Amino acid sequence: MTTASAERGRLVELLFGFFPGQLMQTLARLGVPDALGEGPASVEELAARTGAHPGALGRLLRAAVGLDLVRPTADGRFALTAGGELLRTGRPGSVGNLAQLFCGDAVWRAWGELEWSVRTGEPAFEKITGRSSFEHMAQDPTLNAIFTEAMAEGTRSAAPGIVTSCDLTGVGTLADVGGGNGTLLAAFLAAHPGLRGILFDTPSGVGDPVAGERCVVVTGDMFAAVPAADAHLLKSVIHDWDDERNVAVLTRVREAMPAHGTLFVVEPVLDADPDALAAQRITLMSDLNMLVLTGGRERTEVEFAALLDAAGLRLTDVSPAPPSGYSVLRAVPA
Ligand SMILES: C[S@@+](CC[C@H](N)C(=O)[O-])C[C@H]1O[C@@H](n2cnc3c(N)ncnc32)[C@H](O)[C@@H]1O
Repeated sequence: MTTASAERGRLVELLFGFFPGQLMQTLARLGVPDALGEGPASVEELAARTGAHPGALGRLLRAAVGLDLVRPTADGRFALTAGGELLRTGRPGSVGNLAQLFCGDAVWRAWGELEWSVRTGEPAFEKITGRSSFEHMAQDPTLNAIFTEAMAEGTRSAAPGIVTSCDLTGVGTLADVGGGNGTLLAAFLAAHPGLRGILFDTPSGVGDPVAGERCVVVTGDMFAAVPAADAHLLKSVIHDWDDERNVAVLTRVREAMPAHGTLFVVEPVLDADPDALAAQRITLMSDLNMLVLTGGRERTEVEFAALLDAAGLRLTDVSPAPPSGYSVLRAVPA
């Protein structure tokens, strides 16, 4: 193959990149992976179970074989592959809700307006729905449940590396601000038997909290006030907002911190070196996701330091939290 035709093939694959995502979210929404979790099934059985058109479902499954999500059995039924197992709900490492969120209607329509967001610098989600994504989800319990569980799916697999990267020496109480359903806080509490937790989020954000006995759940608005604690955690919160809103949240955290307090910000950190861009594809796609959905962005270490500084905090160190792509940025009162 010539270089030009190989390059063309690569571009065509990129262009068709959304097809597999739509296939996965359709499988998940129909409940096919959960149905196959009980054992191999025929197209007819799956169609009856999911209410789908048998011929079209057969074509979906055939394409899913090509993506190594299901495999045909010798007797003409379909079974899950190791990858397909991860589309089942509630399984370790599951991405079933992530597929439904990021390839589902709301996010899908916002990405369809990427050009508008690039022209205006504004989140297309608000143009389409007339409200911010968090306001929208608070009014849509089905989407909210998918969002909460999708965040938990992402956080669950990253949690061990994040917990290891945060030094909680001397910390009695840890508050997770915008902590969702408490998945990350639960991992901290499990690793530190003497620790107490405060899960703080909006009423719709906490959903059905999972953080357990040594945790209190407090609902409220982080732009107004956040609970006091020895240490605060903000994971995947800063990237949701523009600089002005972030300085407001960080200032509320600073106000709630004692003199010995610590803030752990958990986010991917962009490397500003142009040569490093190819290695940061996922974070750069997430940056565009924030552009179209919330008006937020991904940031460099210098940009995080400036936000913290504007809120009376000082960035002391940045440590990666492998194997996730997150880093832990530690800050103390300035
Ligand atoms: C991207 S999610 C991150 C959830 C969790 N920290 C994680 O990483 O899995 C952002 C969180 O911020 C919460 N949030 C948004 N606006 C908020 C507000 N005004 N006050 C408190 N929490 C808020 C959302 O409900 C959501 O749980």
